[in-house]
Amino acid sequence: LSTTEVDLSPIATGSAVTVMWRGKPVFVRNRTAEEIKEARDVPLSELRDPATDQSRVKKDNWLILVGVCTHLGCVPLGQKPTDPRGDYGGWFCPCHGSHYDTSGRIRKGPAPANLLVPDYTFTSDTQIRVG
Ligand code: FES
Repeated sequence: LSTTEVDLSPIATGSAVTVMWRGKPVFVRNRTAEEIKEARDVPLSELRDPATDQSRVKKDNWLILVGVCTHLGCVPLGQKPTDPRGDYGGWFCPCHGSHYDTSGRIRKGPAPANLLVPDYTFTSDTQIRVG
């Protein structure tokens, strides 16, 4: 399938789902107010791959990411509440220790770039189409 529809209504604040899109995992996380604040408070000068949080989302709480580490392509942990989320509360790639923040931006470890934001559109308040 070239596009994937995701129903957002069952995804509670603070939780996430993984869907498949073009053979890749896509993370959909409903961020808490605290996670959004953390993502927005960090100065761009501290980022390896500088991007504002606002440029990476279409709605403040919904963060949509391709779940493939930009180092060598492992799937980072952080989707389940019990997963390690790394030093910046986002995702942790166990393969070689890359830490991503609550905007999916690389903060520590060997990965050169932020987790990719796929093309997607809101088809309603509670549904997105990825691709
Ligand atoms: Fe993720 Fe190497 S593949 S840190």
